[in-house]
Amino acid sequence: MGDPVLRQRAATVDAFDGALARLVNDMFETMYHAEGIGLAANQIGVLKQVLVVDVRDEKDAEAGRMALINPRIVMVSDDLDKESEGCLSIPGLEEVVERPWGVRVEAVDVNGKPVSIEAEALLARALQHEIDHLEGILFLDRVSPLKRRMLIQKWTKAKAEAAEKEEKKGGK
Ligand code: NI
Repeated sequence: MGDPVLRQRAATVDAFDGALARLVNDMFETMYHAEGIGLAANQIGVLKQVLVVDVRDEKDAEAGRMALINPRIVMVSDDLDKESEGCLSIPGLEEVVERPWGVRVEAVDVNGKPVSIEAEALLARALQHEIDHLEGILFLDRVSPLKRRMLIQKWTKAKAEAAEKEEKKGGK
């Protein structure tokens, strides 16, 4: 958090080439390394409409793992769902975020082939969180102003403490 790239809208992808495939592979790798369940390209400094998610419990089931290019939410459920969310770009912060329980997302895959995803519960939440990233929106923007202030204070304090620790280490 604090990097302007997280606040910018990612650009539409129109080249479905080896570079895109490599980007998607990098993103899966980064996400698994960080033990996350989703990642948007701007989180690794690339302003392209690309996201990856993997919400599988069992790593052998194919449903729940996907890379989506140029995704957009075309339908949301009336039912809302409140769950705690975190973000790899804001380590250490978690807060309950209210979102539609189900969504339909249209996108294309890494080869440019159209896909339509009906998602519910955790997958729907992960997709909404990552699509937000591609629009420059963070989950903090979706909590009350009071909670947001508290979370940002907590974040700023933790960051300052981490910097102080680093300084002490470097001084030895
Ligand atoms: Ni995030």
